[in-house]
Amino acid sequence: MARNSRSSRWLPVTCLLVGSGLMLAGCKPLPPSKPASEFTPQEARGAAVFQAKCARCHYPTTTRGKHGPGLQALTKLQAMPSGAPPTDARITQTILYGHEMMQPVPIDDAQLHDLLVYLHTL
Ligand code: HEC
Repeated sequence: MARNSRSSRWLPVTCLLVGSGLMLAGCKPLPPSKPASEFTPQEARGAAVFQAKCARCHYPTTTRGKHGPGLQALTKLQAMPSGAPPTDARITQTILYGHEMMQPVPIDDAQLHDLLVYLHTL
């Protein structure tokens, strides 16, 4: 609930950023993230990986930027902030090899797999 009211507060910002290409979802509200209470065990493991490896730079449930862009609805968008499609392959590449201002993140295969499953809940 708190999350929904927060994302609607950010909606005008979302619309403003469309022109600058930072936010490609348009002005429509983003689909809601899956509540943590409904996570499968694998999604919950992925959420813990996100907390450990990504949360210091990315918010998961808003598009508001921290050090990097907010990742709400990442896999449901047509494109990531760079314009690349948000496929598991491109996201994996971003994590393992970095992207522009983002350094590569050391992660093992099992953690990566759980993390990708979690990213689909956002
Ligand atoms: C030390 C800070 C930092 C950490 C840790 C970090 N990121 Fe990033 N991330 C960034 C920055 C900065 C960008 C913007 C990069 C750019 O200039 O395109 C970014 C961009 C991204 C993008 C968008 C890529 C694109 O093509 O637009 C994704 C997806 C992403 N990060 C996912 C993750 C995930 C998942 C993790 C955890 C495994 C993670 N990041 C950890 C800083 C970080």
